[in-house]
Formats: sequence, structure tokens, C-alpha cells
Amino acid sequence: MVWRTIGLIGKLICLPSLERRNSMIDLHGRNINKLRISLTEVCNMACTYCVTSLSDHKRVPDELKTEQMLRLVRMLKDYAGIEKVRLTGGEPLLYPNLITIVSGIHEMGITSIGMTTNGQLLARKAKDLAEAGLKNVNFSLDSLDPENFKRMGRVGKLHKTLEGIDACLKYGLSVKVNMVVMKGENDDEIVKMLEYGVVHGVEIRYLELMGMGPLHKNGDQKLVSMEEILEQISAKYDVQLVSSESDSTSIRYWVPGGYFGIIPNNSAPFCSTCSRLRLTSNGQLIGCLSNPSRVSVSHLLEQNDPEDALQKLVKKSISYKQDVTFTGSSLVMSKVGG
Ligand code: 5AD
Repeated sequence: MVWRTIGLIGKLICLPSLERRNSMIDLHGRNINKLRISLTEVCNMACTYCVTSLSDHKRVPDELKTEQMLRLVRMLKDYAGIEKVRLTGGEPLLYPNLITIVSGIHEMGITSIGMTTNGQLLARKAKDLAEAGLKNVNFSLDSLDPENFKRMGRVGKLHKTLEGIDACLKYGLSVKVNMVVMKGENDDEIVKMLEYGVVHGVEIRYLELMGMGPLHKNGDQKLVSMEEILEQISAKYDVQLVSSESDSTSIRYWVPGGYFGIIPNNSAPFCSTCSRLRLTSNGQLIGCLSNPSRVSVSHLLEQNDPEDALQKLVKKSISYKQDVTFTGSSLVMSKVGG
């Protein structure tokens, strides 16, 4: 009884400090607790804002094995305070052991597991992924017109992504749609996309175009601003601002029948609340989308007691985070998964 009480008091006193020791608070006070894992740099689409051609997506020669990737995630959880994971790519559904990765992460006690995908290969896998512990899926879907979908994505078929969304909804996964809005390309589909979202119970998130990869230094030309997006929607519907989570990237709005969000990469950058760390398919950390610097952590897989070394490397990586503004980057989004 005495020991039990001491144990309980010990827990009450120690746990918070232990958590503080492992959590990664950067110089700007941001608690970095979300990990985005680019499982592979290969993709089965070649969206015009992401790459110049399909052959730009190359598998890196030193991709980690599934078991190595899982060990790194466990280290980042245990020693660096990672609480939420999002699987990205390239295209995560091209990763052969996707179900093993999801269940492995789930078994570690990480319950918030999401995936960002173009959804082309999802319909058949949604059930298994949901059973393995996947909770939410963000679809990249830029057009509801089959021809335009093909033009913007170069490869792929609209109906496959839509079937992927239906399958996720059927198996209880929470779904959001990311639409990168581009002037003269799909800005005439803003309202149509919202209506699709309302009908299907799916939150649409409009992404302002970022000057990354092929758009580095000239991303502004096709930028459609948050203001323009709101103007189009408010011309037809009553729109009201609602609150969103403090470290959310999107500004959320209510419309009759549902919600939508805008990710205002340019108009109102959210760097100051960014809580993300990125892990590449070959075991490198990326602290910031604006900064191509990478910090390799794969060698820690060989070490017996990697805690201190890992914490140092995570701190180094997050020191590359920008203060408040996304300044553009030569990084190709498909290498880092957004
Ligand atoms: N600007 C804005 N969003 C982009 N994405 C990829 N490249 C860009 C860009 N240059 C989106 C993808 C995906 C999300 C992770 O980022 O469509 O939905």
C-alpha cells in the first residue's frame, strides 16, 4: 500500500517532467509533436504544380526497410514526443508494406494515424487500412471534371479517386479533400468542389499554391488567394468563420450543410504554429518546407542507446524551421509529402 502510494505520487511528480524532457519545444515555443513520413518518393500521378513529368518521381536507392522505419518512428515517439503520424509520399499506396506500417505504428500506441494520398489505389485497400488503425485520409483532388483532372494530374482517373473516397467513408475513415487552387486551371471549380463536399459529408480544404519544386520563384503567377476563394463561395452561400485547432494549418468556415477550410500558405502563413517534423523514406529529418536542409537519423538504427543523439538531431532539424513566413523552396513536395 505504502509503495503503491509512493509509486502514484512518483508518477504524478515525474510524468509531467518526463514528458517535458521528451517533448521538442523549439525556439519559437512550438511543440513539435506531429510526424509526416514520406514512405516513398514514387508517385503514380504527376501533378503540374508538383513535378515537371512523371519521371521526376524517382525511388531513392537507400529507402529504409519497413522494420527500420518502424524503429525510427518508435524512437521519435519515445524520445522526441511524437504523438501523431501522417503517411505521405510520393504516393503512400505504392508502398508495398503499407498495412504493416499502419498496424506497427498503431501497436506503438499512436492512435492518430492519417494518410495523404491521390486515392487512385485506395478503393480496394480502405477496409484493411481502417482495420489496421488508420483514422483519417486527406485526398489530393484538384478537379471534378475528368478531363481537367487528367490535365492537372497528367496521369490517373477521376473515378478512381472518387471511389477511394467512397470506400473510406464506407469503412468509417474520416475524409478531407485537398484542392490546390490554380488560376485558369481549376478556379472555376471552387464552388462545385464545395458542393461535392457538402453532399458527401467531406470537408474540402482549398490550398493556396506554394512556390515549391517547379514553381519555386514563380508560384505567384497562378496563385488564387484566400480572399478570392472566399469571394467566390460567399457569392453563393452564407459563410461564417469558425474556430480551428491552435496548430491547424487551415482556417475553417461553416456553410449551410457543412464546413470547408482554406490553407493560406501565402495570405496568412501558419509557420508560427507549425508543429510538424518530416521523415523521408531514407531516414532523414526535414524541419521546414522552406529549408531544404536534411538531418540524417538512419545511422541511429545501429546504436544501442540512441536517445541523446536522436534528441540532438531532432533539435538541429527543427532549428531550420522558419519563424513566420513560408519563403519558397526548391524542394519537390513529392519528396517530402507536404
Ligand atoms: N502548393 C500547394 N499545395 C501543394 N501540394 C503539393 N504541391 C503543392 C504546391 N506547390 C499539396 C498536394 C497534397 C498536399 C500535401 O500538398 O496536393 O494534397
